[in-house]
Amino acid sequence: MTVLQILKRRRSVARFEPEGLLLTREMLEELIGDACLAPSDFNLQPWRFVVVRDRERKEILYDCAYKQEKVRQASAVIIVCGDAFGDRRAAEEAAEAVQTGALDQAQATQLVEAIHRSYEGNDVARFAMAVRDPAFAAMSLMLLATERGIGTTPIGRFDDKALRRAFAIPDRYFPVMLVAMGLPALDAPVPPRGRRLPPSEVVFHEGMGGAEP
Ligand SMILES: Cc1cc2nc3c(=O)[nH]c(=O)nc-3n(C[C@H](O)[C@H](O)[C@H](O)COP(=O)(O)O)c2cc1C
Repeated sequence: MTVLQILKRRRSVARFEPEGLLLTREMLEELIGDACLAPSDFNLQPWRFVVVRDRERKEILYDCAYKQEKVRQASAVIIVCGDAFGDRRAAEEAAEAVQTGALDQAQATQLVEAIHRSYEGNDVARFAMAVRDPAFAAMSLMLLATERGIGTTPIGRFDDKALRRAFAIPDRYFPVMLVAMGLPALDAPVPPRGRRLPPSEVVFHEGMGGAEP
């Protein structure tokens, strides 16, 4: 399948066949590992994934997600989290770049300085890091799942506090979204895809022109 074919095939599954697919730990780890080929700022990879497969844990997640049925129907739900302090990996990342020969020592030192300049005392940049980079990974995860015949739904409606408490997510991590995965219900018709705004409405060339519509 081409990328375009996968993009067209991916739809948010409205209803899953309850636990209709066996998604093993190994399968999910491989899928997530591949999704981590997504780009991230300075390659800091500020994404973390909590895999929820256990039926009782899914019930708890279902409550956190305002009782959206698809959460407990899904074979697995991935809680995609962002690390607002991903820059703490700066030295490690620079050392790895030296080891692989991508950077020399002087460049590695500059890299660490550049990372610190970007994030220290900059809460907006920290928030962006915790949301933007994991979103790339989440999209990659959904496209890879589609390619492998697994249905997905991104879920953004959940109670942040309840989720953090139930899944022991420390403050520095930001639960960005849930990705429910499984077999789409066999008897559920796929509704027509919501219309996408055309390029004439969303594309601006060389600037937005400044005026509010
Ligand atoms: C950030 C985000 C949050 C979403 N949250 C939910 C959700 O809580 N529950 C749900 O059923 N669908 C959710 N969706 C799925 C959207 O409704 C769906 O992507 C959109 O209607 C377009 O349909 P499609 O994915 O089939 O193309 C979410 C999607 C995104 C990107």
